[in-house]
Amino acid sequence: MGSKRCGEGIRERDRTMTTWITICDTCRYAGQEGADLRRTDGERLAELLERRAAGTAVKTRRVSCLMGCAHGCNLTVQAAGKISYVIGRFAPEADAADAIIRYAELHARSESGQVPYRQWPEGIKGHFIARLQPLPEDG
Ligand code: FES
Repeated sequence: MGSKRCGEGIRERDRTMTTWITICDTCRYAGQEGADLRRTDGERLAELLERRAAGTAVKTRRVSCLMGCAHGCNLTVQAAGKISYVIGRFAPEADAADAIIRYAELHARSESGQVPYRQWPEGIKGHFIARLQPLPEDG
């Protein structure tokens, strides 16, 4: 009792080093509502992000609705034990996906999750909606 199995510590370390982007796949970008009924803007942005995240320290997942529908496309940038961010108002375009992935890579490299403003990719500026502090470790 109380002892760790072989490899358990390594898995925990790997988990905390990964930054996750959670993408809302039901979002519509402002002004584009109903423009393409076959795929949502959120799905289009998710596809771009999934392709760009390959081979980086960033992982992606999709959810349907982050409850910020009025300012889609929305996503979160999170990692265990770090400050998390809700960001939105993204068009489902390559430039936006590039900026999001570059920012998430900086988040992954940051011990606290905080990225100095001078390092922010231009395409991320003006898109922050909320910042969430990590939960206390004993919580
Ligand atoms: S549909 Fe994307 S936040 Fe609600």
